[in-house]
Amino acid sequence: MPQGCLADGIQPFHVMDILARAQRLEATGRSVIHLEIGEPDFPTPEPVTAAAVRFLAGGQVRYTAAAGLPALRERIAGFYRECYGVRVEPRRIFLTPGASGAFSLALAAALSPGRRVLLADPGYPCYANFVRLYSGEPHAVPVGPEQDFHLNAELCRAHCGGQMPVAISASPSNPTGTVMNPAVLRGLVEWFASERGILISDEIYHGLEYGQRSVSALEFGDSAFVVNSFSKYFGMTGWRLGWLIVPEAYVDAVERVAQNIFISAPTLSQHAALAAFSSESFAELERRRRAFEARRDFLWEALVRLGFGVPVQPSGAFYIYADCSAFSGDSGEFAAALLEQTGVAVTPGKDFGLQAPQRYLRFAYTADIPILREAVERIRDFVVG
Ligand SMILES: Cc1ncc(COP(=O)(O)O)c(C=O)c1O
Repeated sequence: MPQGCLADGIQPFHVMDILARAQRLEATGRSVIHLEIGEPDFPTPEPVTAAAVRFLAGGQVRYTAAAGLPALRERIAGFYRECYGVRVEPRRIFLTPGASGAFSLALAAALSPGRRVLLADPGYPCYANFVRLYSGEPHAVPVGPEQDFHLNAELCRAHCGGQMPVAISASPSNPTGTVMNPAVLRGLVEWFASERGILISDEIYHGLEYGQRSVSALEFGDSAFVVNSFSKYFGMTGWRLGWLIVPEAYVDAVERVAQNIFISAPTLSQHAALAAFSSESFAELERRRRAFEARRDFLWEALVRLGFGVPVQPSGAFYIYADCSAFSGDSGEFAAALLEQTGVAVTPGKDFGLQAPQRYLRFAYTADIPILREAVERIRDFVVG
C-alpha cells in the first residue's frame, strides 16, 4: 500500500466488520438478527419502482444536467414549500449521489485547507472522514444528554478557536435518534450567519420523527447548507440519490464541482424519485413512520427494562444509543460476543466518536416487532447469563 496519501487518514467503518461477521455466521446456517445497519428494511415504495420501470422501458438513460433534472429540482422546491413553509429557488437545489455526494459538494465548495470543522461526538462517523478528504480538520465537540446529544451555538462558540466557524449538525441524530429543539437550531443558524461561518445541516432523517416534527435550518434563513436524501424517509438507500441546498453565493462553485466529480446523479433514480412525492407514496411512507414509532416504543422500553441506559428518549431516525456499562466495560467486546453467542448484530460505540465509546451500543430498529422481540429475548439470555 502506498503511504502518505489522503486515504491514510480515513478510519474504517467498524459496522462493516460486524456485518461481515454476521454474514459469515449466516453462511454457516445460524439465525442472525440484523440491528447493526442503518437502512430501512422496507422495500422501495411501489410508485417509485413503477416509475423507474416506465422510464427504463424508454431506453434513454443518459446524463442529466450536473445539478439534476429540472422537474425534480422543482418538485423538491415544492416539498419545502408544502412541508416547511419556505421558498427555495430550484437553482439552489442540487441532486447528488446520496447525502454522501452532497457532503462532497458542500465541503469541496466551502472548505479551505486546514479549516476546523466542528462535529458532535457522538455522531455519524463519515463526517470526519469527508472533512479530512477535503483537507479540513475535524474537531470533535463532546455532547451528552444535557444537550440532547446536539451541537448548539454556545458549544460552537467555545470550540471554534477564534476562527470562522464551520460545523456539520444533524437532527434527528445518528446514532442517538434525538431531535434538536427548534430554538437550538435557530440559535445555531443565526449565530453562524452573524459570524459569516458555514453551517451544514444534515436533515437526512427528517420525516422519521415520533413526536414533534423536525424543523429545517431553512426555516431560519438562507445561509446554511442543507443536506437531505431519498435514502432514509423515502426508503431508497440503493438508489443513491440525495440533494443539497446551497446558499445563493455558492451556486456556481457547487455546479462546477458537481460537473467534475460525478457529472450527474443517477438518471434512473432521478426519474423514479419524481414519483416519491405522489400522495400514494406519502401514504405508504406515513404507514412506515408509524411502524418505526411502534418499534421504537417496544425496543426502548425493553432495553431500559433489561438495564441498558438510554438517558434521552430517542424521538427520530431508527436508532437507540444505549449505555451497556451495566453489563460490560467494553461495548466492542460485548457486541462481538453478543453476535457470536446469540446471533444479534448491533454496532459498538467506537464507530461514533471518542466520547466513552466503550460504554455504548447502537441498536437500529430496522426489523419488525416479532423479530425485535426475539432479539430482546436473546439479549436477555445473554446478559442474565
Ligand atoms: C447522518 C447520516 N448522514 C448521511 C448519510 C449518508 O446517506 P446516503 O445513503 O444518502 O448517502 C447517512 C447514512 O447512514 C447518515 O446516517
